[in-house]
Amino acid sequence: MFDVILYQPEIPPNTGNIIRLCANTGARLHLVKPLGFSLEHKQLVRAGLDYHEFAALTVYGNWTECADRFKDRRIFALSTKGSQRYDQIIYAEGDVFLFGPETRGLPVWLLESFPEERRLRLPMLPESRSLNLSNAVAVVVYEAWRQRGFLNGW
Ligand SMILES: C[S@@+](CC[C@H](N)C(=O)[O-])C[C@H]1O[C@@H](n2cnc3c(N)ncnc32)[C@H](O)[C@@H]1O
Repeated sequence: MFDVILYQPEIPPNTGNIIRLCANTGARLHLVKPLGFSLEHKQLVRAGLDYHEFAALTVYGNWTECADRFKDRRIFALSTKGSQRYDQIIYAEGDVFLFGPETRGLPVWLLESFPEERRLRLPMLPESRSLNLSNAVAVVVYEAWRQRGFLNGW
C-alpha cells in the first residue's frame, strides 16, 4: 500500500523497528546503501524479527537505482527542514516516504530535488533537534494508513 525508503540508515535497532512496523502495517521497506550495518547484524536478529518480516525488504546499491524504481510515484521526503506539515497532506495508495540517516538527515542535494510541498515536517517544540528515525516513520505511516481507513487492518 505504501513504500518506505530509508536512505543510508546507520543504526540497526532503528531499522529493526521499522522492518517490524512495515510488516505490521503492510508497507514495503527499501534500504539505500551504504548501510551502517550488515543485514545479518546480530542486533537485527536479536530484535526477534521473523523471516516473513524481511519478506518485503529491498536493498539498492545507490539512490539512482532506488529513484528509478519509484520514478512514476509520489515521493515525500521527511526532514526537520521540511516546510509542509505532514498532517496537511491527503495521502493516496502508492505514496512513498523517504527518510534520512540518523546522524545526518537527508543530504541537501537530495532534499532539494523534491518540490517544497513534498518535503514534510513533523512538528516539534522549539529548540528540539529531531525525532528518532523509527518514531518518525511510525508517525507518518500510521497517519497515511489512518487516512486509508486502516485498510486490511483490524
Ligand atoms: C534522527 S533524524 C536526523 C537528524 C538530522 N540531524 C536532521 O536534522 O535531519 C533521522 C530522520 O528522521 C526523520 N525525522 C526526524 N525528525 C523529523 C521531523 N521532525 N520532521 C520530519 N522528519 C523527521 C527525517 O527523515 C530524518 O532524516
